[in-house]
Amino acid sequence: MKKTVLFIVTLSFLFKPIVKADEGMWLPMLLGEQVYADMVKKGLKVSKEQLYSMNQACIKDAIIIFGGGCTGEIVSKEGLIFTNHHCGYSAIAAASTVDHNYLKDGFWAKTKQEEIYAQGIHAQFLIKIVDVTDKVNAKIKELPSSELTQKLPGILTEMATKETEGSGYEGRVASMFKANQFLLFVYERYKDVRLVGTPPESIGKFGGDTDNWEWPRHTGDFSIFRVYTNKDGKAADYAADNIPLKPKYSLPVSIKGVKDGDFTMIWGYPGGTNRYETSYGVKLKTDIENPSLVGLRDARLKYMLEEMKKSPAVKIQLAGYYAGVANYWKFFDGESKQLLKFKTYEEKQIGEAAFLVWAKGKPEYENLFFDYQKMYEAWRPYAKQRVYMTEGIFGSPLIAFASSLQKLDGTLSKKDVTKEDITKAVEVTKTARAAFIKSENVVSDKNILAYVTQAFYMDIDPSQHPAGFYSMVNTKFGDLKTKATYDAFSNYVFTNTAFLDDAKWDALMANPDTAALYKDPAFMVANAFNTNFNSKYAKLYADFNSQNFVLGKSYLKGILEMNKNKKLYPDANFTMRVSYGAVKSYSPRDAVKYSHICTLSGVLEKYKPGDYEFDAPAKLIELAKAKDFGQYADPIAKDVVVSFISSNDITGGNSGSPVLNAKGELIGLAFDGNYEALSHKIAFDKDLNRTINLDVRYLLWIVEKLGGATNIINELDLRKM
Ligand code: ARG
Repeated sequence: MKKTVLFIVTLSFLFKPIVKADEGMWLPMLLGEQVYADMVKKGLKVSKEQLYSMNQACIKDAIIIFGGGCTGEIVSKEGLIFTNHHCGYSAIAAASTVDHNYLKDGFWAKTKQEEIYAQGIHAQFLIKIVDVTDKVNAKIKELPSSELTQKLPGILTEMATKETEGSGYEGRVASMFKANQFLLFVYERYKDVRLVGTPPESIGKFGGDTDNWEWPRHTGDFSIFRVYTNKDGKAADYAADNIPLKPKYSLPVSIKGVKDGDFTMIWGYPGGTNRYETSYGVKLKTDIENPSLVGLRDARLKYMLEEMKKSPAVKIQLAGYYAGVANYWKFFDGESKQLLKFKTYEEKQIGEAAFLVWAKGKPEYENLFFDYQKMYEAWRPYAKQRVYMTEGIFGSPLIAFASSLQKLDGTLSKKDVTKEDITKAVEVTKTARAAFIKSENVVSDKNILAYVTQAFYMDIDPSQHPAGFYSMVNTKFGDLKTKATYDAFSNYVFTNTAFLDDAKWDALMANPDTAALYKDPAFMVANAFNTNFNSKYAKLYADFNSQNFVLGKSYLKGILEMNKNKKLYPDANFTMRVSYGAVKSYSPRDAVKYSHICTLSGVLEKYKPGDYEFDAPAKLIELAKAKDFGQYADPIAKDVVVSFISSNDITGGNSGSPVLNAKGELIGLAFDGNYEALSHKIAFDKDLNRTINLDVRYLLWIVEKLGGATNIINELDLRKM
């Protein structure tokens, strides 16, 4: 009986095309005829060379890595960048004070002199891509597979450095198809990037975490920056007299608007997907990893938000960190729900059964899933503890900082350590501490530490508790089941640690010694949990990762072989990709149909004066009520379109990505994925997956009508037809 079922299911899997409609994050230089032809069939009007070329300026030249984790695009001949508000968020917060609060009030530079240097924000342009698979394979050929995970990163870094030496460029060798192909990406990095404009957060983050990852959506998620160069037009460190970049290519901006069904392509840097995750991995995620992470983040967020709501200064201080934690708190919660809803675990099992049919008699592949099973069984009992460390104990910023001091401890404890080594280590430690103090909110952190130590005690198998730690808490602070015990314990740590006390800290740095470190209560906490993990579980975790890597490499090799006549795309890994699809409405559930656009009227509907998430600037409300839309009204909606959805396949890292129409003109900025398909890192759903895009006309309307920054509008190449 079982076999028959399997047989039918297997055949249907084999006949299902691997690449489903609109799925795929393609490498733009490796589109091949097949994918390009499909793009043209779906409506694309530009030549392959206009997309990607080594010999002429092309779209790829306008796409940048923004701030190391987002995408941005060049939109003027003077190096103007559009990206998301949430990508510029930390830079905007860093430029803000309680008196000049750009996060709260927005900022518009009316001249270049007013633009604000965004320290730490860099723009990276892709120069070229080179296939270095043979070179890497020659280096790893002799390595035993058990050493591969450990050694490969070093080998790739070394190769990237060697290949770009003396060129002024930077290289990164990216591993594709789980280490079955290696591509060298060469970048030029610009370090002088300045803030040009941002709407107030009540527009840029309108809807907050309630609306995050959801459609319909009324967020004006954009910010505007500019790249500067030295006088010779070269990438350079910040200098007041640097000049705006003269880019190779900048994107024209269309204000014609979008219709349901219009062709769209999105360019950018998707950070990571795991579309070939096994059923075992999916199960570990939904059973253990995601729920643990979500529960711990719930509490941390609650304690931070309490303090942020009380004080504007704390709000600015914690804003960036909070947003990051909140973003993936909701993501992982949604991911689990959707993986279960789509029965991804069962789908994966079906796929694996089909693979095994193909693999029968092929020694390299036929035992893969037995090995996977064994590997997951060995690691599963400890997986929760690891999340409770990383997201729990080290989710306390004080304990995370204390943990970072184990480096200093390492230096101090080295046998023949020199004075110089110590001085260097102390300098690094001082810098880290300054950063920590700047971002530390004691009240919330104290609550967090109390919460996470109790949660670890209650939720983690006692055999995995750090030796002696909880008996110490019990002896000194009381009953281990009571919250008050952990409050008292946490209070003790925060009152007595030297890391929060300038005088004690200075004394420690003037005379660094390990004995003093080990006496510090915050260090003791970090050390107890680290030692516990390192002595008993780190090896198991390393083995798990190493085996997972080796098995994944074989599995993908098999998948590529099995599908040799099909064009597959590699998992996202923060390398430049293009995905294509269409503007597309959808039905999230029975009887409900979602329109492809959201409008300004919807902002008025959601508007709640004084609310933490749904407030909006008075001027925006006035302009909207007066229907003062200028040239940005949509001819059909008779309103300003705030955002639209499309079927493109993207993920985190694509934030800020340009959405282009068939002619290669900018029509929007991708900024989110929809809740109903949050399982997209592991499985793309062709019916429900949508990208949420800011309509560029809303951006322009805000810049012009709310910001009065016609200087920005005048820089653009606007296309009205
Ligand atoms: N979900 C968006 C992304 O990952 C980020 C949105 C930030 N907004 C927020 N409310 N946390 O690209």
